[in-house]
Amino acid sequence: MLDGRRIVLGVTGGIAAYKAVEVCRRLVDAGAHVSPVLTSGALHFVGETTFSALASEPVQRTLWGEDSPIPHTRLGQGADLVLVCPATARVISDYRTGRSHDLLTATLVATRAPVVLCPAMHTEMWEHAAIQENLSVLASRGVHIVAPDEGRLAGGDVGAGRLADPARIVATVERVLGPGDLVGTTVLVTAGGTREAIDPVRFIGNRSSGKQGFALAAEARDRGASVILVTTTPPPPDLGVETHLVESAAQMHQAVVSRSADADVVVMAAAVADFTPVEVADSKLKKQEGPPRIVLEPTVDILAELGRSKRADQVLVGFAAETHDVAANARDKLVRKNADLLVANDVSAPGVGFEHDTNEVVIHGSEMEQNVPLTDKRLVARAVLDAVVAHRSARST
Ligand code: C5P
Repeated sequence: MLDGRRIVLGVTGGIAAYKAVEVCRRLVDAGAHVSPVLTSGALHFVGETTFSALASEPVQRTLWGEDSPIPHTRLGQGADLVLVCPATARVISDYRTGRSHDLLTATLVATRAPVVLCPAMHTEMWEHAAIQENLSVLASRGVHIVAPDEGRLAGGDVGAGRLADPARIVATVERVLGPGDLVGTTVLVTAGGTREAIDPVRFIGNRSSGKQGFALAAEARDRGASVILVTTTPPPPDLGVETHLVESAAQMHQAVVSRSADADVVVMAAAVADFTPVEVADSKLKKQEGPPRIVLEPTVDILAELGRSKRADQVLVGFAAETHDVAANARDKLVRKNADLLVANDVSAPGVGFEHDTNEVVIHGSEMEQNVPLTDKRLVARAVLDAVVAHRSARST
C-alpha cells in the first residue's frame, strides 16, 4: 500500500511518543521508507536506538549534523509525506507561525508534501483556544489532522487528548497518499448568498460569505474530484476549479441546471433567496418618492427541482441554516426536497455559519445522523464528503 513512499516521521516530546514506535513499525511493514526525526523533547521519552533499529534510516535530531549542512531541505524536498506523531502543543504552534528552530519545524516549513499531524496532550491543553485556533488555521491550509481520542492520559487523568489509535493514523497516511476517494467523480458545489435586484443599485441579500462552499470545493479537489463551482462570490485565486460566477437565484438555477447532468454529487451550500422582487425598477428608486412597495414572488427551489429529477446514481446534499427547531427542520427538508444528506447548522450559535471561518453542523441522512462539533469549515467539508463517500458505498453494496 505504501510501497517505496518516503515518509518523514517527526516525533515530539509527549508521553505518547512511545506509541510512535508502533506507528513507525506499521509504516515500514506497509512498505514505506521511514526517516525518523526526533526532537530533544522526544528523547526524554523514547530512545534513539529504538527508532534507528525499526525505521529505514538512522534517527536525525539536529539541524547541525555533520553529514549534511542543510538536512531539513533534503528531508522536506524528498518527502512524499511528513507525519508528526505525537504532535505537541509546541510543534503545532510553531508550525502555525512558521517558527523554524529545530530540525522538525524546519522540515515542516521546508516541505511541499502533505503533512499529517496527530495531536496528543492533556485535555486542558487540547481545549485551549490557542491550540484550537492554531489547528483551525493549519487545517485551512490543507494540513491533515488526526483528532485525538478520549481516554487515559499521563498522570492518571482521563479525557480528550489521547493520541489516536496507531491503526487510524496509518489509515490516514494511506488515504492521504492514496489516489483519492473522489477520483473519477464530478462534484458540483454552490457557494455564497444570492442577490435579488430591487433597482440598478439595491438588492435583497443574505449574510452568506461562500466560505463553506469554497472549503467543500477545495476538499473535493484535493480528494481527486473534478469540481464545478457555482458561486455568487469570487473564490480564492488558487482554488483552481471550473467556476461560474452568478448573482441571483434565477442565474444560479440556470447555471446549476446546465451543469448538473455531468455531476455525480451536488452540494447546495449556497444560501439561495426564497423570494425575489416581481419587478425590478429600471432606474434608481428616489427617496423623495417615499418607501417603495416591493412585491415578492417565490424563486425556483433548485435543490427540490434536482431532487425531483435526480438520477439513481446522483447524490444530493442540501444545507439548512436554521435559528430554531434545527433538527426537525433539517429532517423535514431532507424528505421534502428528496436530498440524500442534509447538513444542518444552528446559525444563532456563536462561531457558527454565515461569515465565520468555523462551523458546527449535524449531518442528517435517512439512516444516519452525525454531529460535527465546532471546527474549521475545511474539517466540516471533510466530514460532509466522508458522509457522501459512505452513502455512495452503502448504496453500491
Ligand atoms: O428551504 P431552505 O431554503 O431552507 O433550504 C435550504 C437548502 O435548499 C440549501 O441547500 C439551499 O442551497 C437550497 N435552496 C435551493 N433553492 C432555493 C432555496 C434553497 O436550492 N430557492
